[in-house]
Amino acid sequence: MAKSRRPWIICCAVTAILLIIIIVTAITLYFTLFKPKQPKITTQSVTLESFSTNLFDIYDTNVTLGITVGINNPNYGGFKYENSTSYVTYHGDVVAVAPVMADTIPARGQHSVGTTVLVIGKSLISNPNFSKDRGTNILNFTSTTTLKGKIIVLKLFKKKATTYSSCDVSLHILEKNATSVCRSKVKF
Ligand SMILES: *[C@@H]1O[C@H](CO)[C@@H](O)[C@H](O)[C@H]1NC(C)=O
Ligand SMILES: *[C@@H]1O[C@H](CO)[C@@H](O)[C@H](O)[C@H]1NC(C)=O
Ligand SMILES: *[C@@H]1O[C@H](CO)[C@@H](O)[C@H](O)[C@H]1NC(C)=O
Ligand SMILES: *[C@@H]1O[C@H](CO)[C@@H](O)[C@H](O)[C@H]1NC(C)=O
Ligand SMILES: *[C@@H]1O[C@H](CO)[C@@H](O)[C@H](O)[C@H]1NC(C)=O
Repeated sequence: MAKSRRPWIICCAVTAILLIIIIVTAITLYFTLFKPKQPKITTQSVTLESFSTNLFDIYDTNVTLGITVGINNPNYGGFKYENSTSYVTYHGDVVAVAPVMADTIPARGQHSVGTTVLVIGKSLISNPNFSKDRGTNILNFTSTTTLKGKIIVLKLFKKKATTYSSCDVSLHILEKNATSVCRSKVKF
């Protein structure tokens, strides 16, 4: 009787040990390798893409700004972000918006999120600061891009993450170029 039960006991013990090993490995992997980590904003810039002025009306000036945000995803899983919008404000007023298409930054990958926005000069005239700024030939804008998304590791571990990027842009009208100073934040 006892003899015939032995293989069964051994089999059970082996199965139990294997299960424990698998569970411990899975837990260890979750807390080490696959633990969702914050995405990082690596580069940010705002460049002047085009500048057009109507010779007969200095207020009819259009400016296209290129906004680029570089994001590094350190995870063993993609960072999937939703459709979003980049905003350009002038002394607190939103003067231009541009869509940012939903996308996924691959596992352990680097990705540039870019969009261009058109600022129509005429939309600035109603702002009380415009005539003074026009006199100094410098227009200051702020551009912001927020990406809301999820980190998905092995389709199993999910964690929400939001990246915030904001740049102060000074547009030099006479030189027809722009300088920018950027800040970023990631909420996890
Ligand atoms: C600026 O853009 C507006 C709207 O697209 C257009 O009507 C106007 O002619 C443009 N002005 C210049 C100087 O490009
Ligand atoms: C994102 O934008 C694209 C293009 O505008 C649209 O086709 C898609 O349905 C949008 N996705 C969501 C989740 O809103
Ligand atoms: C912009 O205009 C407002 C109201 O006229 C004024 O309070 C503010 O100081 C101005 N900002 C700058 C940077 O000139
Ligand atoms: C525009 O921004 C620059 C740099 O931040 C600052 O030195 C300058 O005073 C600002 N000009 C106006 C008109 O707000
Ligand atoms: C802007 O243009 C002027 C004249 O072309 C140049 O001297 C200056 O260095 C430029 N600034 C930037 C930030 O490119």
